[in-house]
Amino acid sequence: MTVTTSSVPVHRALPAGFAWGAATAAYQIEGAVTEGGRTPSIWDTFSHTPGRTENGDTGDTAVDHYHRFRDDVRLMADLGLTTYRFSLAWPRIQPTGRGPASQAGLDFYRALTDELLSHGITPVATLYHWDLPQELEDAGGWPHRDTAHRFAEYTALAAEALGDRISTWTTLNEPWCSAFLGYGSGVHAPGRTDPADALKAAHHLNLGHGLAVGALRAALPGASRIAVSLNLHAVRPLSDHPDDLAAARRIDAVGNRVFTSPMFKGRYDEDLLKDTAHLVRWEELVRDGDLAEISRPIDLLGLNYYNPTVVSSAANARNLARHDGHGDSPHSPWPGAEDVAFHRANDDLTAMGWPIDPTGLSDTLTALHREFGLPLLVTENGAAFEDVPDADGAVHDPERIRYLESHLAAVADAVEAGADVRGYYLWSLLDNFEWAYGYGKRFGIVHVDYATQQRTPKSSARWYSQVIRRGGLA
Ligand code: FCB
Repeated sequence: MTVTTSSVPVHRALPAGFAWGAATAAYQIEGAVTEGGRTPSIWDTFSHTPGRTENGDTGDTAVDHYHRFRDDVRLMADLGLTTYRFSLAWPRIQPTGRGPASQAGLDFYRALTDELLSHGITPVATLYHWDLPQELEDAGGWPHRDTAHRFAEYTALAAEALGDRISTWTTLNEPWCSAFLGYGSGVHAPGRTDPADALKAAHHLNLGHGLAVGALRAALPGASRIAVSLNLHAVRPLSDHPDDLAAARRIDAVGNRVFTSPMFKGRYDEDLLKDTAHLVRWEELVRDGDLAEISRPIDLLGLNYYNPTVVSSAANARNLARHDGHGDSPHSPWPGAEDVAFHRANDDLTAMGWPIDPTGLSDTLTALHREFGLPLLVTENGAAFEDVPDADGAVHDPERIRYLESHLAAVADAVEAGADVRGYYLWSLLDNFEWAYGYGKRFGIVHVDYATQQRTPKSSARWYSQVIRRGGLA
């Protein structure tokens, strides 16, 4: 989305029936990486490769959710969550990425969903939150077309086994990160750095999404709902100089429309094809029938939002440090737009160095509503801060409350402006393994002492609980 700053007045109540949730992802919380027949994913390999993550942190133990899920669900119930978004670990359900489903893997997710349902919490499952089975990466990974078919096969196994208890499914989480951080800048697993592979990965993730939608429709009961979670960049030009407007158009193309146009319009946009024509032969990459597959209708669009993206041409930038919020690498995650400069929107930063600006959320929701008319979910939103327990072990996190409050107000603004937003999933329920940043960045509303695995709800958890009980902000 290319969006402009809005000044919509704040209206604070959210619609009746609004889904109040929190989100997590398998590799970030489960641990137990060798239990139940699970095989390594690309994140196991990557995090065990020296130099890839802060402190060499891995998800081997994470927050041990695999063993503590009943306590964690009780925590969710105490907070009053009405819904919980989690991801299924592909290498747990289908070890090695091929062949039949693993009974132990399915049993874990059956037990988890039973526990959620028995507490009245609606489960929302993400099929792919970045943990590709290592064997499939060894066979070529997402730049290899067959991976899309493997993903559809795994999806069918998961949907057949769990479709009786999970009614809302998300295919991919943030395919932009999988493609462009995984195969472009290399800051995410598998850590490859080839712009052509990144674009091929993007197309095969799109294709995998479409094939998975087909598999879900075939396996799930009729009333089930299918979504995708995209980290759409709220792209803003630094100025209205034509070169900055061109920079914004290019980042919108390779940051957003590379997914939304095939998924919702059944095409790749001409400008994207032109900007990247020197890198891939799109006419060979995109085969007959692919776009029809990718654009199968879905029921909900999930937006993950953290901060806006301000861009300019290199000539109009004071310095060329790439403040895009996506980690440091000499390799750009923006194929065909490597010379675009990224600026911080402001200096009000979270511990990730991400600027706090909720207008990007309201503007993007409103723009998505106008452009695609689909019901929307905020499938992730939240912030990391330096949380330190006080002498009594309590964790006071007023900055996180301020972040969440202003972003929930932005959701309410978007609803007021007409966007059909059905729910909000705070990132994250628990402190967890923040990918290449390891355990140093805490996003949870529940603090985890990693030495003892003790969970302590932060002030923000109590605050969120009150918001849920009131059905909106005070
Ligand atoms: C998103 C990811 C999620 C988490 C947050 C902070 O990009 O989907 O797993 O790491 O960022």
